[in-house]
Amino acid sequence: MTFFNISQTFLKHRVRHWSANCQWTRSLAVSHTLFPCRGLSTDGSTPRPQISEDSIEVFSHVHPRDDMTNVTAKILSTVGSQLHNRPHHPLWLIKEHIKDHFYRSYIGRTGNPLFSVHDNLSPVVMVEQNFDSLLIPPDHPSQKKVDNYYLNCTHMLRAHTSAHQKELVRSGLDRFLLAGDVYRRDEIDSDHNPVFHQMEGVRLFSNHELFARVKNGEELSLFESAGRRTPQKQETHTLEAVKLVEFDLKQALTHLMRHLFGEDRNPIRWVDCYFPFTHPSFEMEVRFQGDWLEMLGCGVMEQELLCSAGAGNKMGWAFGLGLERLAMVLFGKIYSLSNPLLFSDISFWLPAEGYTENDFYDLELVDKFTHPKKEIQMSHCYRVVYRHMERTLTQEEMHIIHGAIEQAAEKELRVQGRY
Ligand code: PHE
Repeated sequence: MTFFNISQTFLKHRVRHWSANCQWTRSLAVSHTLFPCRGLSTDGSTPRPQISEDSIEVFSHVHPRDDMTNVTAKILSTVGSQLHNRPHHPLWLIKEHIKDHFYRSYIGRTGNPLFSVHDNLSPVVMVEQNFDSLLIPPDHPSQKKVDNYYLNCTHMLRAHTSAHQKELVRSGLDRFLLAGDVYRRDEIDSDHNPVFHQMEGVRLFSNHELFARVKNGEELSLFESAGRRTPQKQETHTLEAVKLVEFDLKQALTHLMRHLFGEDRNPIRWVDCYFPFTHPSFEMEVRFQGDWLEMLGCGVMEQELLCSAGAGNKMGWAFGLGLERLAMVLFGKIYSLSNPLLFSDISFWLPAEGYTENDFYDLELVDKFTHPKKEIQMSHCYRVVYRHMERTLTQEEMHIIHGAIEQAAEKELRVQGRY
């Protein structure tokens, strides 16, 4: 099994369920965020990617095209939209919940959070980061051109947040979370959105940290010299160290799920699996609407990776969690409570220039109208669907939000309301 298969099924599920819930999702995104950031980054200062006959420019770096180039203008237009960094977007909300849990659960002696959080690393990475740094061999099926977006033979859009593991460990970090957009080509069905989001977590242990709570722990060791690789462990690790790291990993993730899902949580189960950069490796599956859904991949980090990152005296765990997948279960649960939906349309005259349809988020455009007398004046009508996450939303509450959206539309998009 290739490790990307997992996420391709992930992608299929994700799209199916997203579309079932998309009205809700879109209305939530609009009611809180109001308007999308345009262009490449949230600060609006980065130029849009440029795609020309012989090069591709992203984030002000020019990448010459070659035989590997397969990014399209369409996919490049999504690079940098950073949904996970847009306040109140569902993906941002989940990221914040996860951060919050780790900040509260892992506190240093002086009250400082032990996990650092990185959510602004460029999705353009070296092919070496995405694969080689994770011990994924060149002939591994996950490297195939048809499955990835290559800028050229040296750079690509990251296919997973694991691409940053090695650089962050090398920079001296022992505990970190990292969130980001990831890109995978999905040839099976071109309707699928090839962009999704992941949250990566890494925790390293020194000999002392791992065995500190074990009686006579100072007699135990992380490593053994003449060991063998078995289904349970790597050749360099002692079985007792692996079991403790594995226990800590599973406990950390079980606690995280409990924090996210609350008391009436969905059942979870662990399934053995394979990743080139962890051993042993597991998937966590969550029960959702009668199915078991893969939620994340994780495992004990390959020691060779840690050695090459300058942390060969430590052992570690890593996980990679699909944020859309988690959103689906979390919000699907709320969705199934069937809080009533409220609808309200928003209509406005467009400015003569400088407006494109998807400026108004990607809400359903229900009507277009050109004024019979003034040929140039076009109006658009969008339907906004509202639902409160925990209870019935009242008409009055909806009107307040709707009014705020109308005002913000006039101000930010220079449209003129038709109310
Ligand atoms: N990067 C893997 C994926 O995208 C998930 C993973 C992360 C697995 C970290 C193990 C450790 O499928």
